[in-house]
Amino acid sequence: MPSVYLQTFGCQMNAADSNGLAHQAWSMGCTFAAQPDEADIIIVNTCAIREKAELRVYGRLGQLKGIKERRPQAKLLVAGCLAEKDRAVMRAKAPHVDALLGPREYRRFKELLGSWGVPTDAPPPQTDFVMPSLEDDPGRDGAHEFAHLRALVNITRGCEKFCTYCIVPYTRGPLESIDPDEIESQVRREIRCGAREITLLGQNVNSYYWEEQRLDFADLLLRVGAIEGLERLTFLTSHPKDFNPRVVDALAQLRNVEPRMHLPVQCGSNRVLQTMARLYTIEEYLDKIAYFREHLPRWALTTDLIVGYPTESEADFLATLELVQRGTFEYAFIFAYSPRTGTPAATMDGQVPPQEKIRRLQAVNAAQNDVTRRFNESFLGECVRVLAQGPSKKDPSKMAGKTGHNTTVIYPRDDRTKSAPVVDVIAEQAFSWGLAGSVAEPAYV
Ligand code: 5AD
Ligand code: SF4
Repeated sequence: MPSVYLQTFGCQMNAADSNGLAHQAWSMGCTFAAQPDEADIIIVNTCAIREKAELRVYGRLGQLKGIKERRPQAKLLVAGCLAEKDRAVMRAKAPHVDALLGPREYRRFKELLGSWGVPTDAPPPQTDFVMPSLEDDPGRDGAHEFAHLRALVNITRGCEKFCTYCIVPYTRGPLESIDPDEIESQVRREIRCGAREITLLGQNVNSYYWEEQRLDFADLLLRVGAIEGLERLTFLTSHPKDFNPRVVDALAQLRNVEPRMHLPVQCGSNRVLQTMARLYTIEEYLDKIAYFREHLPRWALTTDLIVGYPTESEADFLATLELVQRGTFEYAFIFAYSPRTGTPAATMDGQVPPQEKIRRLQAVNAAQNDVTRRFNESFLGECVRVLAQGPSKKDPSKMAGKTGHNTTVIYPRDDRTKSAPVVDVIAEQAFSWGLAGSVAEPAYV
């Protein structure tokens, strides 16, 4: 049977899509290869959110060229957002690619494998499906034996917000909500397979709506949160415009929800928010999070920020910096604006020079690091419960995992901890990247 190598770039949506593709390949009898040299079919699931992501993908495709030259019968499939965005130019940029499948075309995956000689009528495999360990995989960034502890479950697909800087609505198409019965059965399946944490996933989960049952995101949270055996529930990602207090009320009712919420603000200036077409003011955003803070104390609020958006003035930038310095967010993903061909912002006047974007990025990063470190320090001496990810990448003699706040924790690796899925750790040192500590006694769940 053919073997498949799969590499994923980009966001958790891509990780979830890769999981789906791997599952389909497995159901057709394919096996998985750890290295592209050993594979008959090489799949690269790609990202187009910023130029850097694209460059990484093209770099990887360049490396894979050698394999195609040595073994022309091996097939190379490019999936994901870059396949959709660069459909017209991929042939010129990477002529050794055999096929492209955009995020809305995965229904054609089996047919494509069939055209490459994989039998489409094979009986279901006798082995269990085990997601292959993937390099660079954002959703499964832990070691292989810990990967099944975290599961990503899509609840919406696509996005129709058309923020002026963003390529996603063009690559992933309009918003679609997924049948709640299907969501529920997938969550149950993942729990049966050992998942301790379920992430409900969508570009904008707050827009979730299932007409037949008049079910919105708050209702869905309550329904999924009630599933037996579900230890930890979380979700990604939200748009502040559609975020409403009912979601906070639902979260406050659930005992198995992790104490964190991601609500991308993008910037602190109303003028920039308006040109970004974000559809809220900073005051409205702050009002919403005031309700969140009041009802969900000691939760972590995380956000995305873009600096150097076209026309962003020093005053606009300082508004973002000040928002961060005030300690609004426990953690932030901060990006320099990257023009995406085909989006309105890419051709706007007033593009900010690269050096200036880097200066602003560094300033906001430094300010957020201070805030994050202080947040982490607030756990010193406390016992934190950690969901393991595997040996630390930086120091494999230690283990790494995440708390419910999504804080990275490093703890000793020994005979007991090396395979324990959940560990209680006493936080002894705090950094901007996370916590380090020793194992509490009694330690395990
Ligand atoms: N440049 C920089 N950052 C971007 N994002 C989306 N598009 C761009 C772009 N063109 C960021 C936003 C979004 C996150 C997923 O990526 O902050 O929330
Ligand atoms: Fe992109 Fe805006 Fe949609 Fe988020 S909400 S995926 S930033 S268009």
